[in-house]
Amino acid sequence: MSLVDERGTTPGRGLRERARELAALQERVRGGPGERATAAQKARGKLTVRERLDLLFDPGSFMEVEGLRRHRASGFGLEDNRPYTDGVVTGWGLVHGRTVFAYAHDFRIFGGSLGEAHAAKIHKLMDLAEAAGAPIVGLCDGAGARIQEGVTALAGYGGIFQRNVRVSGVIPQISVILGPCAGGAAYSPALTDFTFMVADMARMYVTGPDVVAAVTGESVTHEALGGAKVHAELSGVASFTHDDEESCLEDVRYLLSMLPANNRQTPPATDSADPEHRRVDRLLDLVPPDPRGSYDIREVIEEIVDDGEYLEVHAEWAGNIVCALTRLGGHVTGIVANQPLAMAGVLDIDASEKAARFVQMCDAFNIPLVTLVDVPGFLPGVAQEHGGVIRHGAKLLYAYCNATVPRVQVILRKAYGGAYIVMDSRSIGTDLSLAWPTNEIAVMGAEGAANVIFRRDIAAADDPERVRRERIRQYREDLMGPYHAAERGLVDDVIDPAETRLRLIAALRMLRSKHAALPSRKHGNQPQ
Ligand code: HXC
Repeated sequence: MSLVDERGTTPGRGLRERARELAALQERVRGGPGERATAAQKARGKLTVRERLDLLFDPGSFMEVEGLRRHRASGFGLEDNRPYTDGVVTGWGLVHGRTVFAYAHDFRIFGGSLGEAHAAKIHKLMDLAEAAGAPIVGLCDGAGARIQEGVTALAGYGGIFQRNVRVSGVIPQISVILGPCAGGAAYSPALTDFTFMVADMARMYVTGPDVVAAVTGESVTHEALGGAKVHAELSGVASFTHDDEESCLEDVRYLLSMLPANNRQTPPATDSADPEHRRVDRLLDLVPPDPRGSYDIREVIEEIVDDGEYLEVHAEWAGNIVCALTRLGGHVTGIVANQPLAMAGVLDIDASEKAARFVQMCDAFNIPLVTLVDVPGFLPGVAQEHGGVIRHGAKLLYAYCNATVPRVQVILRKAYGGAYIVMDSRSIGTDLSLAWPTNEIAVMGAEGAANVIFRRDIAAADDPERVRRERIRQYREDLMGPYHAAERGLVDDVIDPAETRLRLIAALRMLRSKHAALPSRKHGNQPQ
């Protein structure tokens, strides 16, 4: 009679023997379900779960927990199929030397679907990440609720959502979509801070193409319904997209290097070789003085920040506003900037939502905000009004007004109407407002303003065009001059554009010790 049990351990043997048996068992666990399943994963063009974790973490630093966990479910043949890990690898490791937690679905096991044990592992890891105060990354490649386990699988998702919300704004949460992410499973990424998707591989939808066809009669492919491109450009669900898993996980590491471990810390600072007092004379030529002239705000950002490096969030969605994480003088800073290259840089529904979420994230994780303003106003139109631009625009206002991190506004050129106020103006609490000598701050552009307030004058004139031009000039000189706002204290200083970098670094250094508190309350009632 053999004394070897199903795990390959032999009761009654010495510790050395046991250690050898353990090593063999761990090897089996790490190896996964077998060559056929691995070949199928590769045939789908995907890395295995272990290869992904190797790319995410510093070499040799990953510590797995609950690799030996197995489900206790029965029925549908489950009792004869109890693979180790239960389809999700959980643990922690180092990313650039700092602790990060991760869970990673193993599609080779039950299609990475989530059953009771699988969910319990993720719950435990999320609790551990909260206790340790360190970021958590989910590598998602699973078929959703494990159909054979029924309601316990559904409850497992509920436990994840509840924890996603509990640690929101406490520890950074990152979702990386590397396969299917269907049904309610898609809501966990939506509750996290950032979602990465890999093209031709990642899919996110609440109901897949078959259900869509059955319910609405629409015929649509997986990719067209919930692929990376759709979520990057149309829905705004994806914060970042990549062509392959390697570059995606490299950028996850880069993003983590700019985030604090938790909301009690500030992001790690680095020693920058880029001189703090570097003048940026190119800025004097880059931005056309004519308020209607176009330019790429990304070039302005590149000139100002350390080594021209920044990480743009939602780069392909709502291009009329740019949100980016970067460093100034070695300190992580969030940049929000109007983009004159797209829709002349107007604010609309999507731009407001994008920037509001970014401002909120920066505030939660102690990242100072720099707002670069060149905005003609909010986008007029029936579609915008009926789409709720009022409540969506209010989200951006709400986010800025609530932000207690250091805030610096720089007005590069025009800043008109409500959009001027919303873009972190003095009146909603920016700490410092700087303006270039090209600034034009007004209720609206001079042409529009003159047409309204001098309408009768113009209509009654012998030469209406000459009078119109005269009134436009008059309005511009009297109310929109570069020193008008400074004289009234709504701009703290008018600066030489070439000194923007050094002035920002000095301002953020001064504000590093800022402490601001909001009135005590359960929570605000944010516009939705
Ligand atoms: C258990 C599943 C599974 C599931 C797939 N598998 N989905 N096992 N529960 N939900 C198994 C398959 O039987 C197969 O096992 C293996 O995983 C790989 O699946 P394939 O279909 O062969 O792979 P592929 O062709 O790549 O298609 C992947 C897929 C498809 C698009 C994910 O499998 C699919 O549509 N599955 C159903 C998805 C779904 O409806 N999930 C429930 C969502 S509702 P073998 O043994 O053959 O290899 C939900 C509710 C959450 O999640 C609510 C929270 C509030």
